[in-house]
Amino acid sequence: MCGIVAYIGPRDAAPILLEGLQRLEYRGYDSAGVAVAAKGGLKVRKSKGRVAELAALVPARFAGKAGIGHTRWATHGVPSDVNSHPHLDGAERIAVVHNGIIENADELRAKLQAEGCVFQSETDTEVLSHLIAGLATEGVELEDAVRAALKRVVGTYGIAVIDADQPDRIVVARNGSPIVLGIGEKEMFAASDVAALVRYTRQVVHLDDGELATVRADGFNTFTQEDARATAKQPSIVDWEEASYDTAGHAHFLVKEIHEQPTSVERTLSGRIDERFNTAHLGGLNMDAREARAFRRVKILGCGSAYYSGELGAQLIEELARIPAHAEPASEFRYRNPVIEADTLYIAVSQSGETYDTLAAVQEVKRKGGKVLGVVNTVGSAIARECDGGMYLHAGPEISVASTKAFTSTAIAFALIALHLGRVHDLSPADGRRICAGLKAIPGQIREILDQEKVIADLAAKYAGHEGMMFIGRVRGYPVAREGAQKLKEVSYVHAEAYPASELKHGPLALIGPELPTVAIVPDDELRDKNLTALGEIRARSGPVLMVGHTAPDPKLAEDCILVPRNEPELDPILLGIPLQLFAYYAAVALERDVDKPRNLAKSVTVE
Ligand code: AGP
Repeated sequence: MCGIVAYIGPRDAAPILLEGLQRLEYRGYDSAGVAVAAKGGLKVRKSKGRVAELAALVPARFAGKAGIGHTRWATHGVPSDVNSHPHLDGAERIAVVHNGIIENADELRAKLQAEGCVFQSETDTEVLSHLIAGLATEGVELEDAVRAALKRVVGTYGIAVIDADQPDRIVVARNGSPIVLGIGEKEMFAASDVAALVRYTRQVVHLDDGELATVRADGFNTFTQEDARATAKQPSIVDWEEASYDTAGHAHFLVKEIHEQPTSVERTLSGRIDERFNTAHLGGLNMDAREARAFRRVKILGCGSAYYSGELGAQLIEELARIPAHAEPASEFRYRNPVIEADTLYIAVSQSGETYDTLAAVQEVKRKGGKVLGVVNTVGSAIARECDGGMYLHAGPEISVASTKAFTSTAIAFALIALHLGRVHDLSPADGRRICAGLKAIPGQIREILDQEKVIADLAAKYAGHEGMMFIGRVRGYPVAREGAQKLKEVSYVHAEAYPASELKHGPLALIGPELPTVAIVPDDELRDKNLTALGEIRARSGPVLMVGHTAPDPKLAEDCILVPRNEPELDPILLGIPLQLFAYYAAVALERDVDKPRNLAKSVTVE
């Protein structure tokens, strides 16, 4: 999805903007551009394609101490040089970069054209440049002009604006699309993602929706869109390592992050296992035992893989705490006027903390008086700030579009929440001890699975040639199958469907044949025999089977098998998902896909 970088200070802005844009490449984009405010006016370069192509267009002498940059992911108008941001007004005084969507752009464009404005691009963003310039040329201060222009806009935005006539400032604004300020030594930065800033500063300030900031070399001030009232902001410190933004010798971020999981899981667990009381220590939930006992239901909200990890979480909570729990896509929940119950605990899940649908779902729950906890990876993100409490994953930045380490850490976080809720209900100390020991074993067991990388890579290459694959699992194995199918689709573009194994005979069995392999999740639990019966049904129709489980079955039931170490039955799904990540990765490699930038996908979906 689109990215924004801005700089103002004593240095030339362009190299810093280009470096920042490179850091945002992982989010997915189709074109890029920069504008700097120089003595003679604005200097602009923009182009369709990669940031490297843009960098080649920027001359060595491109002086300007204030500038804005952008990576675009096309929504209005095809990817092209002219549709790339920044967008300027006719007099080339104002430059704007924008993430999000302006819903009434057509109407505003028609009005502006009637007033004589000539548009260069097909984008929604360009209306903002003309609106702001119209006011600025009447002598309105830049921040007032931006505020007034935004009042006419319906939609979502994160924007950064520079004015050739007021080069001592950059104005940024947020409504539904993230903007974070970076505080340097006599220099300031702004971006849509801290990834663009960590090389320069760790001190950041997150804007809230409906907030603007004027950013100058020596500081910033924030104020409301509504009435220009000053707001107080507390800087926070980003603890993510700059090294996390490099592939560190791996071919792709995806495989690097798969391999990081033993340590990212250790970080998620760190300080949270309470062996004295055989429970989890989760201060951030902001709930005492009495409050935790009062909830009658749990509803988990997230999108994509975050939703599937929520399905694992719901099962863990039901099994360990015996509280009815259910996961629902936040993108559906927010549109169906949901009934919000006072005795339901809502939990929002998000790696980025900026997914617009999940944020909107949280806001809907809160507006109706519900309590929402967040299970979030990105510290200080919008969803984290909106929630009443929660847990950070501490998985480190996830750069690959396909989520792996955040998925696993979210499942671990849910195991901790389930343990905590279980121990304030009826989970026995002995069962609590069993789960604590199981959790502590997981990082080592993930290492054992990763040691099978070569075998899994060969299997992925063997199956990658098929046009589609079926993923099946039963109860605990079903969310694993769903996430496995999602990973394969995302990075290899091989069609993959996930079904509960129990549902096969109710329809999808019609698809089974030699041309459609099945990946079957078959742990050694009480449902193993039933799962093996399903494999028999598939084999009877000559469907190839790759089984992922604990014990190899009769070779007649599965021609291939990946075995994972056994943990506690409730925690086994967390481990069963790991080989499927490697399987998807190596299938994509075999098919020569652009693994870290899968087609049509962005890392963080900050639009509706
Ligand atoms: C995961 O591989 C996907 N890229 C996607 O489904 C993702 O999990 C989803 O968009 C939610 O993102 P979030 O966790 O940042 O909210």
